[in-house]
Amino acid sequence: MTDFKKKLSDVLGKSIPQLTQEEILAMIEIPPNSEMGDFAFPCFKLAKVFRKAPNLIAEDIATNLHKGDFIERVETAGAYLNFFIDKKHFIKSVIGEVLLKKETYGSSLMGNGKNVIVEFSSPNIAKPFHIGHIRTTVIGNSLYKIYKFLGYNTITINHLGDYGTQFGKLIVAYKKWGNEEEVRANPIPTLLKLYIKFHEEAEEKPELEDESREWFKKLENKDEEATKLWGWFREVSLDEFNRVYNMLNIKFDSYAGESFYSDKMPDAVKKMEEANILKKSKGADIVDLEEFGMPPALIRKRDGSTLYITRDIAAAIYRKETYDFYKNIYVVGSQQNLHFQQWKKVVELMGYDWADDCVHVPFGMVSLEEGTMSTRKGRVVFLEDVFNKAVDKTKEIIKEKSPNLEDLDTVANQVGIGAVMFQELSNNRIKDYVFNWDKVLNFEGETGPYVQYTHARACSVLRRAGVSVEDSFKAELLVDDVTLEVVKKIQQFPQIIKDSQRKNEPSIITRHIIDLAQAFNRFYHDHPILVEDENLKKARLAIVFATKEVLSIGLYLLGIKAPEKM
Ligand code: ARG
Repeated sequence: MTDFKKKLSDVLGKSIPQLTQEEILAMIEIPPNSEMGDFAFPCFKLAKVFRKAPNLIAEDIATNLHKGDFIERVETAGAYLNFFIDKKHFIKSVIGEVLLKKETYGSSLMGNGKNVIVEFSSPNIAKPFHIGHIRTTVIGNSLYKIYKFLGYNTITINHLGDYGTQFGKLIVAYKKWGNEEEVRANPIPTLLKLYIKFHEEAEEKPELEDESREWFKKLENKDEEATKLWGWFREVSLDEFNRVYNMLNIKFDSYAGESFYSDKMPDAVKKMEEANILKKSKGADIVDLEEFGMPPALIRKRDGSTLYITRDIAAAIYRKETYDFYKNIYVVGSQQNLHFQQWKKVVELMGYDWADDCVHVPFGMVSLEEGTMSTRKGRVVFLEDVFNKAVDKTKEIIKEKSPNLEDLDTVANQVGIGAVMFQELSNNRIKDYVFNWDKVLNFEGETGPYVQYTHARACSVLRRAGVSVEDSFKAELLVDDVTLEVVKKIQQFPQIIKDSQRKNEPSIITRHIIDLAQAFNRFYHDHPILVEDENLKKARLAIVFATKEVLSIGLYLLGIKAPEKM
């Protein structure tokens, strides 16, 4: 794409030889609104050089500028020069770029040679994979795609919660009240029931807690029976998780979860000892974080067992050694903010300068209109059910809207699942929000189906046109405001992707493609496309094509499919 800012700096350089090109570039601004032009150049700093009032300097430059044909006009406003880029040049450059790059438009090599870990989803085994996991799963997957698109070498990790004292409880419960067939037939609900029963019984019989601690110890000591049961719980849980990951087209490069670090913790603890940061407190080992305004990090309990944070410390060290990461990203809810602050501080105190490359990407809670969930009480909404319900509801809607659609099942899948994912990625991630079915599946609102529908509409126009889109289109036929709005959204898209990466915020892309879809639908409404006039038709088709590409890339970066017919 033409770098108009750079071109402008060349032109200005000829009028202001006293400044270097870099200096000029750094001074060029983007005005707050488009009535003030596409670029602005303030002359305040030139007052010293020219020994003249800045507004007079602006006038002088404006009169003597050899502006070239890419600048439509120059205006002065006090000490400012305002530049209006020639619309034809602008459209040609933006749309030409999309026609050339197609599905790679907006991609970049900026991440080349840099390894980025995106850890996300990370559910706990033997527990339901429920609506509370939706945000980490969907946001993490999108961040992975965004980083990859920008050239980073990206590694996805599912840090499974597959270790800890709860497995002692589960083993006890299974041995007392469980049976194999039932677990096989209906793994997670059955394991959940056993876990709930354990807690109910333990209220009356506290000795069950001791038993469970013993079984966890056995697991830590690689006792055969304990390991076998635990391995089996893990396997059946993963089968269930994978059903959802398959639905969402999500893949992980590694499932190294908490248990993976069980043999790596002694070394991590040793390193903490060497760094002289471990303290004894009531027989346990802690890192005192008082001077940093945080409660102590409990590293090893009195009985020698390690904790969640210990495993996260071991994991970070392992990841640095294995992947030499440029960034190590954790997509985990904001309820764990304190955990990640403590953990990062400990890693820092251990002397690792890469602690700063570890980034916790938090997000707010999702709640249901039906009320809150409680795993222990068995009030859960399974993620799989949410997606299935979305697909069923979508099927009903499509049957009504497009009764003749071929391949209804595939499309209903892509739209239903996409709708839920899109909703998750619509809000600023840090905000809490309430899941609402009507909002998710609304084809008219600011939703996934709306964007997908707009994409399918563009595809349909291109199909019906029956001519190929070429970059010889006549841009002068596209200079009206409604069309220009579409082009501007397309032009901003590459920067939008970079912003969303820098802030680890996919919703920046979500909102942008909603804006683009709305701008395009206004264009579609105001301008007939398949008109007699061949030149006009080809020019408008170029807009349709470019919009289609950008919507499809945007959806792709959110992890959502873009069906061509809906
Ligand atoms: N398994 C945890 C949970 O469900 C999330 C793990 C987050 N990742 C981490 N490295 N601590 O709450």
